[in-house]
Amino acid sequence: MLLETTDLQPLDLHLQHLPPFVHLHMPWARLEALWQQKLTARVPVQYLTGTAHWRQFQLQISSAVLIPRPETEELIDWAMTAAAAQPPALQAVADWADLGTGSGVIALGLASLFPEGMIHAVDVSEAALAIAALNAQTQGLKARIQFYQGEWLQPLAHLRGSLRGIVSNPPYIPTALIPTLTPEVSQHEPHLALDGGVDGLGPIREIIATAPQYLCSGGVLLFEMMMGQDQAIYQLLQAQGDYRQIQIHRDLAGVARFAQAERK
Ligand SMILES: C[S@@+](CC[C@H](N)C(=O)[O-])C[C@H]1O[C@@H](n2cnc3c(N)ncnc32)[C@H](O)[C@@H]1O
Repeated sequence: MLLETTDLQPLDLHLQHLPPFVHLHMPWARLEALWQQKLTARVPVQYLTGTAHWRQFQLQISSAVLIPRPETEELIDWAMTAAAAQPPALQAVADWADLGTGSGVIALGLASLFPEGMIHAVDVSEAALAIAALNAQTQGLKARIQFYQGEWLQPLAHLRGSLRGIVSNPPYIPTALIPTLTPEVSQHEPHLALDGGVDGLGPIREIIATAPQYLCSGGVLLFEMMMGQDQAIYQLLQAQGDYRQIQIHRDLAGVARFAQAERK
């Protein structure tokens, strides 16, 4: 909160290098009122300041979008590793998709990683797409990302068989678990971004079933999951029949968090 509302730098806080006077970007009463909202209504700081940091990006966010999480940053690293392992012929295929783009973070990460081709970013939420488009503009990546409103791969019918990769952080929390999460999440983050249906796997099932029609042969599907979903997801990918090289990756905390598979 202090980093967003004063001239203080992260190092000042780490080293407790605090000058006797700190310049505030807003009246003291406003800062105090925001802090009270954090304490009493448990509003996340990122929604109070309207900003979030993710990989190299400083982003604008609102309560219409999920607060981008640090573990999701690793999806971009896995996309980079997967792309580097693709055969040279495939490296000429340039387009990627981000399903459920929210604040646009994955699309931004992919656009900065792959300087050629387009990133096709889909979300069902118009409000989320407005935030994502704003972030693409501020990061100078607007010309590289095409936004679509709709359900998962449906708006990308014109790209069937042509995508080099599909990346997603879909909603994956079982509906009944949502009220048990911290109030910052359950009462303030959009349920559209959290709720994965009865077993949490609804959107993932849909993506696994439809992605092969949109990927080119050798193209990669890469998505995030919740702790404990890895075995079910491995089986879903295997049972689908159109994937090979199915892998589960752990995040930096050691949790099985990402699934990766290649289109046969
Ligand atoms: C977990 S959030 C991920 C947001 C962002 N990609 C991130 O990693 O921070 C899931 C996103 O999926 C979107 N979503 C939910 N249902 C959808 C659907 N049927 N089709 C497309 N997007 C959907 C939500 O609006 C939300 O932005």
